[in-house]
Amino acid sequence: MKQYIDELYENNDLGDEKLLYILENIDDNSKEYLVSKAHEIRMRTYGNKVFMRGLIEFTNYCKKNCEYCGIQGRNKNVERYRLTYDQIMECAKVGDRLGYKTYVLQGGEDPYFNDDRIVEIIKGIKSLFPNNAITLSLGERSYDSYKRLFDAGADRYLLRHETASKELYEWLHPGEVFGDRIKCLENLKEIGYQFGAGFMVGLPRQTKADLVKDLRFVKEIEPHMCGIGPFIPHADTKLKDFTAGTLEDTTTILALVRLLLPNVLLPATTALGSIDKVGREKGIKAGGNVVMPNLSPTDVREKYSLYDGKICTGDEAAECRKCIERRINNAGFEVAITRGDNVKWSQDNPDVLQYDSKIVDINGILGF
Ligand code: SAM
Ligand code: FES
Repeated sequence: MKQYIDELYENNDLGDEKLLYILENIDDNSKEYLVSKAHEIRMRTYGNKVFMRGLIEFTNYCKKNCEYCGIQGRNKNVERYRLTYDQIMECAKVGDRLGYKTYVLQGGEDPYFNDDRIVEIIKGIKSLFPNNAITLSLGERSYDSYKRLFDAGADRYLLRHETASKELYEWLHPGEVFGDRIKCLENLKEIGYQFGAGFMVGLPRQTKADLVKDLRFVKEIEPHMCGIGPFIPHADTKLKDFTAGTLEDTTTILALVRLLLPNVLLPATTALGSIDKVGREKGIKAGGNVVMPNLSPTDVREKYSLYDGKICTGDEAAECRKCIERRINNAGFEVAITRGDNVKWSQDNPDVLQYDSKIVDINGILGF
């Protein structure tokens, strides 16, 4: 086992059979060794900094019916909401004051938010904060739509592939075609976004061999970001009786992804924090270098219920900010008040300002 981990560490790659061997046989000692190697790599690429993204969940309307997802269109128990343009700008202002130099605008696939409306939002945020980055996470759209949003100023796009197993993907997304999702990722890459793929760990019917497919997929497509979290059941879905993915399996996968893709931006996700009180800290220790605290108004938080037991639904944005910094520090790391671009991308785009000279006294605002 140790020999395979060393090989992965040296080459940033490992054959599929060896990856499968690690997933099937990892024990406490080898896990500790794997995590220590992932830590070494992240210290080399990003040091001890963790980037923050202010997450704005701006609509929970969705035309899709992903079987695992609590806000899928057919769930009649969801109270639907959309944030207004002004509410979104207000979130952006609060976020900037709290030191978030990237916003993630995430929502269900809501036809109301056509290209014109999203362009207006992107331009509005960029006119307020030209040096802050915008990440979109709006699901599948056409090449032309992605291109328009990029040309309007969007910097990054997150679109998890969810699982790299075609059969499992099509079982979880009835009527959807796996190849369409992958084509979207290829389009995002071609257009020039910093793009993010990603998947869930512990999905119903998912095997360890399926997870090896995910690892191989991300190694090959080489995303700038990779969102990985445990599947967690939601009571209103057909998958409600399945068990959630585990902290151990998810952190093993995070460490393997850090070793396969040393430069990747790797979030310690809210889902990981939702299955374990110190899940995000453990995710950071296993190689994670991004956290995404919630910036949405508190009165809509509970309505963006993707899975049961989602944390941070009641706290004000400033509370989340304090909490996240405490967690990052407890894990032995430091918060970075920057756009937090992918390190390789930054080298290729040296003119993009990473540090904003107007940075305010965050401690004063937070009352530390
Ligand atoms: N609609 C956009 C899309 O499809 O990419 C973005 C929103 S979607 C709710 C964001 C992510 O939430 C999905 O990519 C999925 O991986 C995750 N998610 C949804 N339901 C989940 C569940 N039950 N457990 C864990 N993660 C879940
Ligand atoms: Fe659309 Fe989950 S099914 S966001």
